[in-house]
Amino acid sequence: MALFRKAKKEYDKALLPKHVAIIMDGNGRWAKKRSLPRIMGHRAGADALRRVSRFAGHMGIEYITVYAFSTENWKRSDEEVSGLMSLLLDYLKNAEKELGGDEVRIRVIGDPARFSDEIQQQIKRVEAVTKDNKAVTVTLALNYGGRDELVHAVKAIAKEVQDGKTDPDSIDEKTVSRHLYTYDMPDPDLVIRTSGELRLSNYLLWQTSYSELYFTDTLWPDFDEKEFTKAIDAYLSRSRRFGGR
Ligand code: IPE
Ligand code: IPE
Ligand code: MG
Repeated sequence: MALFRKAKKEYDKALLPKHVAIIMDGNGRWAKKRSLPRIMGHRAGADALRRVSRFAGHMGIEYITVYAFSTENWKRSDEEVSGLMSLLLDYLKNAEKELGGDEVRIRVIGDPARFSDEIQQQIKRVEAVTKDNKAVTVTLALNYGGRDELVHAVKAIAKEVQDGKTDPDSIDEKTVSRHLYTYDMPDPDLVIRTSGELRLSNYLLWQTSYSELYFTDTLWPDFDEKEFTKAIDAYLSRSRRFGGR
C-alpha cells in the first residue's frame, strides 16, 4: 500500500504510459531454479499478474495487455498445454468472482476458437461481469499472434471490398487498425519483456511500431511492484520522437 501512495504522489498521470504491454516470460525457468514442475512456475506467474494488474490500476495506468498464450505455444507438450488451460480457467473464474466489484476490466484478444467451450464461455462471462470497471483494462492475449491478427484483419477488409462496402483506394492505416483485435485501445506506449529474451515473439506487431521497449532479466513470477516501478521510471527517462526532430 505504501508503494501505491508513493506512486500516486510521485507520478503525473499525464506523463505515465497510457498502455503498457507485457510479455510475461520466464515461468519455466523460475520453476526449474526451484526444481519444481513448470506448471508451478505458471501458477506463480498468474499470481504475479494479479498483483501487477492491481498495482498498475492504482498507479493510474489505463491499459495493461499481457501475452498469456501465443499461437506458437500449442507446440509445447500436451502436459504443459493442458496444465496451462486449467490454470487459465481458474484465473478466469477467480477474476469473475474477485474483480466484479473491483476496478479491473478484463478483456481478451486472440482467437478463442481453439479453446474448450468451457473456457470460451468463461471468457464471455468475465468480460461481461467486469465490463463497467473503469480504473484499468487488463487485456489477456490468448491464442494470440501478431501475424495471425493481421491475417484476420486482411480477410475482413477483403470481404468488405468484395461486398462493395469498402473502396480499395480508401484503405489506409486507420482501416487496418480498426480491424485488429485492439481496435478500441491506444497503441502500447511501453512494452516490457521479462526473463532476458530480446525479442517480440509475434506480439502486437502492428501496434508496437513506436512503443518504447524495456527488457529485464527478472523472471515473470518475480516481477513485482518494485520492478514495475523501475520499468515506468525507465520509460519516463526516454525521449519519444516518432520520427520527428
Ligand atoms: C511464459 O513462461 C509463459 C508462457 C509462454 C505461457 P515460459 O513458459 O515461456 O517460461 P520459460 O521461457 O520456459 O522460462
Ligand atoms: C512468448 O513467450 C509468449 C508468451 C509469453 C505467452 P515464449 O516463451 O513462448 O517465446 P519464445 O519461444 O521464447 O520466443
Ligand atoms: Mg518463454
